[in-house]
Amino acid sequence: MPATAYVNGRYLPLAHAGLPVEDRGTQFADAVYEVVAMFAGRPLDWAAHRWRLRRGLAALFIEGAPSDAALDAIAQTLWRRSHLADGLLYIQVSRGTARRDHGFPAGVRPNLVMTARPFDFRQRLAQQQEGVAVVALPDQRWKRCDLKTTGLLGAVLGKAEARRLGAFEAMFHLEDGTVTEGASTNLWMVASSGTLVTHPLSARILPGIMRETAMRLARAAGMAVAERPFTLDEARTAPELFLTSTTGPLLPITRLDGAPVGTGTAHAGRPGPVATRLATLLWSEIARQTGWRP
Ligand code: PDD
Repeated sequence: MPATAYVNGRYLPLAHAGLPVEDRGTQFADAVYEVVAMFAGRPLDWAAHRWRLRRGLAALFIEGAPSDAALDAIAQTLWRRSHLADGLLYIQVSRGTARRDHGFPAGVRPNLVMTARPFDFRQRLAQQQEGVAVVALPDQRWKRCDLKTTGLLGAVLGKAEARRLGAFEAMFHLEDGTVTEGASTNLWMVASSGTLVTHPLSARILPGIMRETAMRLARAAGMAVAERPFTLDEARTAPELFLTSTTGPLLPITRLDGAPVGTGTAHAGRPGPVATRLATLLWSEIARQTGWRP
């Protein structure tokens, strides 16, 4: 059986992998994680994911995690031993294992887990043609959504509610109507001026790697991008909405709370030209970095 997990020095099949009961990630969500897209065995935006992992570790005062070189080597070895081509590399670093106590334990070493799972990115191409539905839901998460911690209950409940309502993703919003992000994606609006609008970096959203890549590519292609908050009301009348994430990379949103997006345009209820153009740029960037072709 190919090794699809790494736990603290050992490579093993996923079903045999585990952590101690008193892992602080399990008991306190005292852990950060990353999900990296692997195309034909090559990671996309690896340096950016590693940067975000380090930022999270520093913010949580987790010390003693393996070096960047060690993470690189483990990720490469795991992927090789998994015999996978396309998939998702999951990395989780918790503060460590210690007798349950809220305060930081002394003298523990972080627990490092990585898993390798297959993922079919081609299914996204079909979804991109179709578009996806989202539903507006109150953002019930904590106030440090910029940290990619395993404390994901607000996101889990939001995603479950979205799915119960037949939607692909939640559109989280604050009490004043400000749209923050999805349960596991960043959200974008195309304003009637054509400007791409997405929530600015703050403690309210995750600094998405695909968000950053999309912004860079859009600007390089001469598209206007504004990092500013937008409201649910604006979203309901926007010509286009879309979402980005590692597993996306970009999916047009064609329904919001059951209503077609872009009413009054030629593409009402269907993917619009701006999202489609940016998606094409993202797939080209994936091909450039990894050599992957659909
Ligand atoms: N989710 N916002 C949230 C809350 C997320 O959890 C994610 C990623 C994103 C998009 O970030 P990125 O472009 O770096 O993937 C935005 C990952 C994929 C997950 O938890 O599975």
